[in-house]
Amino acid sequence: MEAIELLMTRRSYPRGSLIQPAPNRTELENILQAAMSVPDHGNLKPWRFVVIQGQGMKDLDGVLRAMYEGQVEDETYFNRFIQEIINTPMMICVYTALNTDHKVSILDQQLAGGAACEHILLAAQAMGFGGIWHTQDTEGALRQMLKMGEEDQILGVISLGTPKRTSAAKRKSFVDYTFEWSQESGLQPWA
Ligand SMILES: Cc1cc2nc3c(=O)[nH]c(=O)nc-3n(C[C@H](O)[C@H](O)[C@H](O)COP(=O)(O)O)c2cc1C
Repeated sequence: MEAIELLMTRRSYPRGSLIQPAPNRTELENILQAAMSVPDHGNLKPWRFVVIQGQGMKDLDGVLRAMYEGQVEDETYFNRFIQEIINTPMMICVYTALNTDHKVSILDQQLAGGAACEHILLAAQAMGFGGIWHTQDTEGALRQMLKMGEEDQILGVISLGTPKRTSAAKRKSFVDYTFEWSQESGLQPWA
């Protein structure tokens, strides 16, 4: 696939639509290596990747159930929620390893980690897999499971697998979001 076609057709696949196989070890290593080539101010590599699959997913199941114990009002809904998460073929948790006393800003470091999330999605899609980027719903459980420190921030929980079926997403034109600027004319809509 041409790189530009990959970029234009990138889309998310909801967790529930992802089935096995997940990337194998070699594919996964290539995906993670692709994530190492994101723009990175100061070359700080201010991110860490944690791969969760197999037993790790069963452990996440236990942590999620323990977390919500006594608070579940609708068992059916709750079980569906948990099943969708733990049936995800693979998750990659991307979290910060920030250099707080470095001249490179925290924002720049967070953005670099966010770019790593996107490279994971793009590399996976280039190999025929599908994925989606979440920050919510498993965040608390993963923080607990991975014994993350107060200062650590989850930048993305990237679910990966094989889409049950692939389809194109309709995208808006960049035109409404783009302007051209010159001293003489100021900000002008793209035309
Ligand atoms: C930083 C970030 C965090 C996100 N977190 C969530 C999330 O917690 N839950 C969710 O449903 N979508 C989340 N999304 C949005 C999805 O990943 C996805 O982009 C969205 O469903 C639109 O689909 P598309 O990527 O095909 O356009 C997040 C996206 C980003 C960039």
